[in-house]
Amino acid sequence: MNETKARKFLERIGEIYSGAALTLMIDVGFRAGLWEAAAQGPATSEQLAALAGLEERYVREWLGAVTTGEIMEYEPENRTYSLAPEHAISLTGEGGSNRAPNAGLLTYLGKHVNSVVNAFRDGGGVPYSQYRPEFTGLMDQRFRREYDERLLDGYIRVVPGLDERLVSGISVCDIGCGTGHNMNLMAAAYPASTFVGFDIAADAIDLARAEAAEMGLGNVGFEVQDATNLPGGLSFDLMTTFDAVHDQANPQGALNEISRCLAPGGVYLMIDIKASSDIKNNIGNPLAPYLYTVSTMHCMTVSLAANGAGLGTVWGRELALEMLTTAGMSEVEVLDSSNPTNSIYVCRKAGGRKTSPSLRKGDS
Ligand SMILES: C[S@@+](CC[C@H](N)C(=O)[O-])C[C@H]1O[C@@H](n2cnc3c(N)ncnc32)[C@H](O)[C@@H]1O
Repeated sequence: MNETKARKFLERIGEIYSGAALTLMIDVGFRAGLWEAAAQGPATSEQLAALAGLEERYVREWLGAVTTGEIMEYEPENRTYSLAPEHAISLTGEGGSNRAPNAGLLTYLGKHVNSVVNAFRDGGGVPYSQYRPEFTGLMDQRFRREYDERLLDGYIRVVPGLDERLVSGISVCDIGCGTGHNMNLMAAAYPASTFVGFDIAADAIDLARAEAAEMGLGNVGFEVQDATNLPGGLSFDLMTTFDAVHDQANPQGALNEISRCLAPGGVYLMIDIKASSDIKNNIGNPLAPYLYTVSTMHCMTVSLAANGAGLGTVWGRELALEMLTTAGMSEVEVLDSSNPTNSIYVCRKAGGRKTSPSLRKGDS
């Protein structure tokens, strides 16, 4: 027994719990509008409460947590709290750099601990239906900003030739589209192309259709549709999945269907988590504990609930490449995204027309 190691770990446990506790406070700050208010400049607890229209006593206690948690700073002389602009970037605004919405996903997953522990004991999982409708809204809240900021420049235009093809007019299908904000943005940006989004979640499809109508788009549609059983006769020039393969019950079936529906010369873009299939390569990745936790609390578990593969969030690049090959994607390039948590798999079938030099599977 190494006493120093034991003491260090005890300290580490304290840090872990403080981090988890601050996650709750980030979520409270996001929902209550405190981050946006705090970003306006140094303020006492009274001033901040007045600015945000909140109860001062609660605001003061929240400030205690986020200040000792080194998110905000305190000036004792004039009793003011401030949010440095360097911190505000990650907690405010409508762009993808605002990470505050992620906290809501974690606090929500906390509600499912009992059900997940039951699955540890009894097998099976927790079905998607048990996470809805809140999950739909949380996904939307989390990804909407990301797409507004990065969809076109960070995902589409990094694939050579794709922007030009979309401008000239091609057919596009997004599988597991959720609330469809990505398809709606693309439909607005590329009026000569046509877009469709498929998802099994009826509540998400309703929201996607409502947004398309609100945006006055005539070149996009959304359908409740299982990815593993796409209608016959479909053919798309571009197919996409955004974080929508690894939590499926039958991900290989979905990839096979995507391959079947890809037109000659078509491209499949699979945006998915950047990680390795081998845990030893993920050790030291500061985001890995977050990814494995979200997987345990949702992604793996919804798949297992349907007797599925249970790939999990961290299925990783090696397994992804294997499954894409099995689906018939003979050419796969793996590109980095400007979002460091994602990889962009650019996939083509044999004989497909290339829009850029391709690397063989496993290169890059
Ligand atoms: C993590 S969410 C991502 C949603 C969306 N792509 C986004 O970026 O916001 C995964 C989505 O895949 C959908 N999904 C899961 N299994 C599916 C299946 N078999 N067929 C179609 N969609 C599925 C879920 O309903 C969910 O909306």
